[in-house]
Formats: sequence, C-alpha cells, structure tokens
Amino acid sequence: MKLKVNGYWMNVRENGQGRPVLLIHGYPLNSRLWKPQLEGLPDVARLIAPDLRGHGDSEALPGPYSMDLLADDCAALLDELSITEPVVVNGLSMGGYVAMAFARRYPERLAALVLTATRAGADSEAGKASRDQAAQQTREQGLDSIVESMLPKLLAPAHFKTRPDLVTEARAIMRNTSLDGVLGDLMAMKSRPDSTPSLAQIKVPARILFGSEDQIIPLSEARAMLAVLPDAGLNVIPEAGHLPNLEQPQPYNQLLGGFIQSLA
Ligand code: MLT
Repeated sequence: MKLKVNGYWMNVRENGQGRPVLLIHGYPLNSRLWKPQLEGLPDVARLIAPDLRGHGDSEALPGPYSMDLLADDCAALLDELSITEPVVVNGLSMGGYVAMAFARRYPERLAALVLTATRAGADSEAGKASRDQAAQQTREQGLDSIVESMLPKLLAPAHFKTRPDLVTEARAIMRNTSLDGVLGDLMAMKSRPDSTPSLAQIKVPARILFGSEDQIIPLSEARAMLAVLPDAGLNVIPEAGHLPNLEQPQPYNQLLGGFIQSLA
C-alpha cells in the first residue's frame, strides 16, 4: 500500500496481527528484503516494512538524506497508521543506523530494539572516502555498477555456488533503488554520528542478530554493541552473510519471533 508520509508517497508492506514491529531495510535495498518475515511471523506480530524514500516503490526524492530524516519518516509512518503504542524496531545494516536514530529521537515510542547486521560507530575517514567514491561511481556508471560491486559481499560466500535463487533475489531487490536513493543513502551514512553513547542509554530490551559470515560488517561490531547496551543478547546465525533474514529465514524468524514473544 502507498501512504502519504512526511509529504511524499511511501510504499509499505504489512502483514500479521499483534504488537507492531517496524522492519527497516538497509542500503541499497527495500522492504522486499523482509518477505520471509512478513510471510513467516504473521501470528507473532503486526509486521510493518516501509520502503525508505528513494527505495523500492516509494517516491524517489533527491537528497540530502540523514539518519534522523529517515527515522522521522518512520515515526510519521506510525502516525499515519495511528500507532501510538511503543513498537519493536528492527533495522538491518543501514536500517540499523536508522533504528538507532529512531531510538535517540523517539525513546517513548520504542518497546524494544533489534539490530541486525549493523554497527554503532560512525564511518572512519577511509569509510567516508569510499562513500564519495561510490557516489562518483553511481553518477558515472549508474545503479547496476553499484549493484554488481556490492553483490559479492552481500551473502555468505558459499551461497554464490549453492543458492542461485538468493543471488537473483538480492540483485533484483537492489535494482529497485533510485539513483537519488543511492546518493542520498551514501551521504547520510557518511555523515551519521557515532551511536555508541546513545546505545548505552537505551532502557528497553535489545537483541543483536548477525550472520556468522558477514563480509560487510564484522562480528566484532556486534560484540561492541553488546558491550554497551544495558539489556541485550546476541545471536549469531550460521551460514549467513550480511542478509541473515533472507539467507536463513527459519532460524532468523525463530530468534526474532522468540524475542518478540519474550517481551512483557
Ligand atoms: C547496508 O547494507 O545497509 C550498508 O552496506 C551499510 C554500510 O555500508 O555501512
């Protein structure tokens, strides 16, 4: 469905009943990433997965974007859906950066936080330079060149031999991103703050979910977040890379569903 949110048309997938759970995708992805959760957990929660601005079937708005702006879009979506109770927010990778901004800006709207394949820290100087390079590559060579350079790092290495369906799916998801979305994300990620101090202030339960073979964000980042979050657990999912929810939906759904059900 499409909803007018913060002055633009946002595409949203929704399924299930119960506690609202916001599923925030990463870069350069969209809500289709969460299909296994939308289809697998409808009895556990009301799952709400937006396409962030510039992604999927949402409007392709030009930048600048920031994590705060994307978090505000998510809060405006909850308003549009008349959801006033606190929600579980699950962000994957860049979606985790948005989830951390949401936790900072709307602590009263947060029931629990799930951080999937993400990190708390800001970009290093080298990381910032590689955002600029990727932006230049996007302008000069287009979206497909970004998709093809990211794809080999997105999944667990073995999946490129054993799971052609996953490779096809990941490529198709990434291809449905606008150039404005890619450029907006890159600059938003480059300028995002270090969320480590604010993670230490989070009062609600948190869960960190990671693939054992994430080639984009190392497992050490999961342990660093675990060390600062006051009430958190970590689950590492075997034979999964940067998209554990898509690569290993069964164990991922069991962990996410169990966490949601454990909340009072
Ligand atoms: C993502 O998957 O959202 C991004 O790769 C995260 C990042 O580049 O920092």
